[in-house]
Amino acid sequence: MRACNQNVRPAPVSVGLMSSVLELQDVTVRRGTTTILDSITWTVNDDERWVVLGRNGAGKTTLIQVAAGRLHPSSGTATILGARLGRVDVFELRPRIGLASAALADRIPPGETVLDVVLTAAYSQTGRWRERYETLDHDRAHALLNVFDVDHLAGRLFGTLSEGERKRVQIARSLMTDPEILLLDEPGAGLDLGAREELVGALAELAGDPRCPVLVLVTHHVEEIPPGFTHALLLKDGRVSAAGPVTEVIRSEQLSEAFGLALEVERRDDRFAARASR
Ligand SMILES: Nc1ncnc2c1ncn2[C@@H]1O[C@H](COP(=O)(O)OP(=O)(O)OP(=O)(O)O)[C@@H](O)[C@H]1O
Ligand SMILES: [Mg+2]
Repeated sequence: MRACNQNVRPAPVSVGLMSSVLELQDVTVRRGTTTILDSITWTVNDDERWVVLGRNGAGKTTLIQVAAGRLHPSSGTATILGARLGRVDVFELRPRIGLASAALADRIPPGETVLDVVLTAAYSQTGRWRERYETLDHDRAHALLNVFDVDHLAGRLFGTLSEGERKRVQIARSLMTDPEILLLDEPGAGLDLGAREELVGALAELAGDPRCPVLVLVTHHVEEIPPGFTHALLLKDGRVSAAGPVTEVIRSEQLSEAFGLALEVERRDDRFAARASR
């Protein structure tokens, strides 16, 4: 079973020869007098896999919420899969966007079975109500749980899972609708070393499969950047501090600037490591 099934992707907006899946122009998000995102301009094309890094409170989750069509910018424009936010029915757009985030996980009723957690994604819902699911939906949900090695937990209640098991179930859920863009907000948080390495391996596999959606991964650790990720965005105080190809952005100078701390970044084969400069 493959995690991604899209043989032919519908062409999103054409910009020259590139197809942009996500296009933010001057996006600003304000809450009261606080500016959380400040004039973010960012384009994600359909053959790219992005990692987003930045300090606690830099605005990463807020950026992902905008990219997922769940938060409207206070000003500026967000175009997702060719649809301009504010001019499109977000309920039609949501199944095309896979999202796994702590905020979404918090909305999953702890008494829901793991299988239902994945199944309900088909209707962009959390919490099963009275929908009827087809055999095909069941098959896909089990197959995805299998890809992430958690199918044996299908009958368990979500609230009884370990952190690592929850993360894997959430990623399976986020792929249920076979989305065209997959947004993962800190999927590695709370994982032990082995589980983290398995996650990095699974994400590297998704990144290398052209049938898989465009990926945007938020992480706190450069060690979690999976091989195959092509681009990086560094956020600092709600602004883009650096953005571009991973090898140009995941460097000592750029990370030190974004984190406000002298850092040394090392690259070995296709993995990164960082520590404070001595
Ligand atoms: N509804 C809100 N009202 C006021 N401030 C908010 C609101 N939502 C977020 N913020 C603030 O905006 C800033 C960015 O929050 P965000 O969750 O996007 O950061 P983050 O980069 O994801 O941080 P972390 O690494 O801790 O997850 C934080 O300072 C946060 O306190
Ligand atoms: Mg966050």
